[in-house]
Amino acid sequence: MKTMTSLLAAMLLTGVSATAAMADAVPDAPKFDAQGKVNLVGVNDILTYKALPSYNQPDFVAALEKAGKLPPLKDRLPKEPMVYKTGNMKDGIGVYGDVMRHVIGGRPEGWNYWAGQSQGWGGIDIGLEECLTRTGPLFQVKAEELQPLPNLAKGWEWSKDGHELTMHLIEGAKWSDGVDFNADDVMFYWEKNVLDTSVHPLNGATPDSWGVGTTLTKVDANTVKWTFKAAFPSSALYEMAYGKFCPGPAHILAPQHPSNSKNSYEQYKNAFPGTYMAMPTMGAWVVVDHKPDNIVVLRRNPYYWKVDEKGNQLPYLNEMQYRLSTWADRDVQAVAGTGDFSNLEQAENYVESLKKSADPAAPARLEFGQRTIGYTLDFNYSANGWGDTDERSVAVHKLNRDLNFRKAVTMMLDRQRLGESLVKGPFTTIYPGGLLAGTSYYDKDSTVYYPFNVDAAKKALDAAGLKDTDGDGLVNLPGGKNVEITLLANADYQSDKSLAEGVVAMAEKAGLRVIPKFVSGKDRDAARDAGKYDWMVIRQGTEVITAVQNTDHLAPIGPSTTDFHKAGADGKVDLMDFEAKIVDVVNKFIGASDPKERVDLMKQYQKLATENVYQAGLTVYPGALIINKRFSNIAPGAPIFMYNWAEDNIIRERVYVAADKQSKNEVFPNTLPGKPGSAPGDGLVK
Ligand code: GLA
Ligand code: CA
Repeated sequence: MKTMTSLLAAMLLTGVSATAAMADAVPDAPKFDAQGKVNLVGVNDILTYKALPSYNQPDFVAALEKAGKLPPLKDRLPKEPMVYKTGNMKDGIGVYGDVMRHVIGGRPEGWNYWAGQSQGWGGIDIGLEECLTRTGPLFQVKAEELQPLPNLAKGWEWSKDGHELTMHLIEGAKWSDGVDFNADDVMFYWEKNVLDTSVHPLNGATPDSWGVGTTLTKVDANTVKWTFKAAFPSSALYEMAYGKFCPGPAHILAPQHPSNSKNSYEQYKNAFPGTYMAMPTMGAWVVVDHKPDNIVVLRRNPYYWKVDEKGNQLPYLNEMQYRLSTWADRDVQAVAGTGDFSNLEQAENYVESLKKSADPAAPARLEFGQRTIGYTLDFNYSANGWGDTDERSVAVHKLNRDLNFRKAVTMMLDRQRLGESLVKGPFTTIYPGGLLAGTSYYDKDSTVYYPFNVDAAKKALDAAGLKDTDGDGLVNLPGGKNVEITLLANADYQSDKSLAEGVVAMAEKAGLRVIPKFVSGKDRDAARDAGKYDWMVIRQGTEVITAVQNTDHLAPIGPSTTDFHKAGADGKVDLMDFEAKIVDVVNKFIGASDPKERVDLMKQYQKLATENVYQAGLTVYPGALIINKRFSNIAPGAPIFMYNWAEDNIIRERVYVAADKQSKNEVFPNTLPGKPGSAPGDGLVK
């Protein structure tokens, strides 16, 4: 493990060699060792499901139970709760109390995750949504046992031919308002939110996400059955984790769905606004307060269905806070100790954060992982009426579909400088696009890279039919005005803005006008989802790290599975020839079960994607987890981003604070969530 000081020294001393790259080979990344050593285990070492002889809860909850304000604990728990194994908990069985103070840059739009409302990110929805399976903690599972962890689905069996998957749901578990969780919740999510394509769940679940032609049926109250076109499809169980298969409370949602009410789809989406507290959840904490632009507070869920081996009902932490600030402030506060957690991911903040955390007396630990923060420049490929339809953008989308044009774009980008504009030192490295180097399916020999070369870029623009016909230094559309391209970027992150500004300046040098559009939060998401952009700077999802999670984002296998190419009004995606090949490869990968075949398919994907500049990679760098030193049970080497974000990876429900280190920061001590729909900060059980 590297110490902070040696890392800091390495960072300040290492010059990154700017060796000229071969025409088609990616330069090797500067060495950067991840700091924490992961302790690899099997799935069964982490958890099991079983009834224990007795159960415990915090004293204040026991007192509320005694006062008749809650049913007895054993009636609140499922028949066989999920039990976390002590051996896999770094610091063992915990104690109750304290709070984790998050700081986030997003804002809750409302609580209807299933109809696409964002809760402000930063781990709010990750904590509220429990899903059939779970993948965040898989960074610590050995390769030979690698498969998603059970979660709401406590087990499953495949049929002999691999086309059917029977899933057993946890039995007798309850939503945070005490209502039973069962297969009807699962079916309501599937039928009325996924199959009903007028509803768009957050994180992009579509009927094609589990492979085209997949079906799901209810067998009995605790059993559901999937059928797949392919045998033993490799991605299916991964897509049942966050964020694609996390059912909502049907007893609350169904009455508002357009099929059961006079609501429009928009009204359904907005039926649980930011002021609606205690939206029932299967998660460990329930939202009890929301002061806009100030704070969201969650209190422990007295019906939570997970325990430790001593029968202590989880979570250990009584409260979660999310201060509504900026993402950059998250880093600052976590380092200073006024916040408790950050995914250090905006490279502009690295030097300052490293320096401050290097002090042994610093309140927080900072630990770097692998290079998993990758940015691309995405091209809007829809020439089918999806997104902007004015003459200018139609012409640009057509250009986007021309390989000469994309080659010009990729060669005008000086990725070395783009990376260094964020942070100097051994962090950032060149990213040609496709799967990230160092991840399990990455293959260097299948990766095609077009190095920075302005002259070659200019020639490629010419080959795409773009010439500067009026001599102002910028290329024109044939017989028309200068080409103008809009570039969408997320205004909430300095790194996104810096990269977009770099792209604009580099394009200008090659004679191409690009106009940045910096948009915040949900408006950025809305512009992205509606195709209101020509190009977009975007932080890549887990698909380029794991390939098995979010596989449906890799290519438009369905009408709306991929952000940068969706179907027009006719429901069809206007695939380019090479893209049809990518779709074919991705479909095969989703259906493939043979490990060798899967490796080979991802090589094909990598070749097709990078040779054709499907998404132009920009830069890739490691992120660091910053966490206050008072917390116990943080697994070493937990990455900030892999199968999921660190908010999932660290298994917050079993994180605790030792008695002598507990803070006095709970804002609603000794209380439990009130009734669904209660007002912010009101109606708590005490
Ligand atoms: C945002 C943040 C990430 C992470 C996720 C969790 O995207 O930038 O670091 O916290 O939210 O959803
Ligand atoms: Ca011109």
